[in-house]
Amino acid sequence: MIEQVKLIPVKTGDGSGTLYNPVAGEHYHSTNGALTESVHVFIQAGMLYQLHRENRLRILEVGLGTGLNALLTLSECRNRDLTVDYTAIEPFPLGKELIAELNYCSLPGLSELSREFAAIHNAASGKTETISKDFSFTAIRKTLDNFLRDTDNRYNLIYFDAFSPQVAPDLWTPEVFQALRRHMPTGATLVTYSAKGLVRRAMQAAGMQVERLPGPPGKREMLRATAILK
Ligand SMILES: C[S@@+](CC[C@H](N)C(=O)[O-])C[C@H]1O[C@@H](n2cnc3c(N)ncnc32)[C@H](O)[C@@H]1O
Repeated sequence: MIEQVKLIPVKTGDGSGTLYNPVAGEHYHSTNGALTESVHVFIQAGMLYQLHRENRLRILEVGLGTGLNALLTLSECRNRDLTVDYTAIEPFPLGKELIAELNYCSLPGLSELSREFAAIHNAASGKTETISKDFSFTAIRKTLDNFLRDTDNRYNLIYFDAFSPQVAPDLWTPEVFQALRRHMPTGATLVTYSAKGLVRRAMQAAGMQVERLPGPPGKREMLRATAILK
């Protein structure tokens, strides 16, 4: 497991910031562009894709981290007629100073969401908060395996944004995807930035049909998996 360490803010290729974890030797987002990657992988290939099928999204994010995916999802939710219930797992919540330093609400189109973004980061663990009319948020300050053991909830969209399989191999196993699959109705979707063969095979073994999609700048491919009838 990755423990909380002193994280270092860095600028990425599109001008947006991310964090570097020196112990893991890994960034929270692509250094080619944090915002570009989040929009490409989670919003476009995940949220907007799943919206063609359902207008109530029950999203589970594995690794809230900086909250950028949640903020972008909230922004998209505001511009459309849909309801989002967002649950985010994060065993190592970030300090307020780091979140302030990243200044994500200064990114284009996000300036009106400062109050809501603060409410996301301040949410008490396990308690569902109404962040805005159509967006509820539940923070889970636990590891993924502890959370999955304790819940019966089901999600029709999963943002799988853990550290990479090299750094956190225990989060990318067939057992983890099988456990997630039990919380996905048929037709639910999971998106991730990783396109590794072992990840694809682990998802397939768990009863998911996996597509390889073009990745964001600097990455050839990403994965989108759909829960199918077994
Ligand atoms: C790639 S970073 C997160 C990126 C994040 N979605 C963002 O936009 O900032 C991976 C995150 O997974 C969290 N994490 C580490 N171990 C975890 C575990 N066992 N279960 C769930 N999340 C974990 C880390 O603390 C970190 O915030």
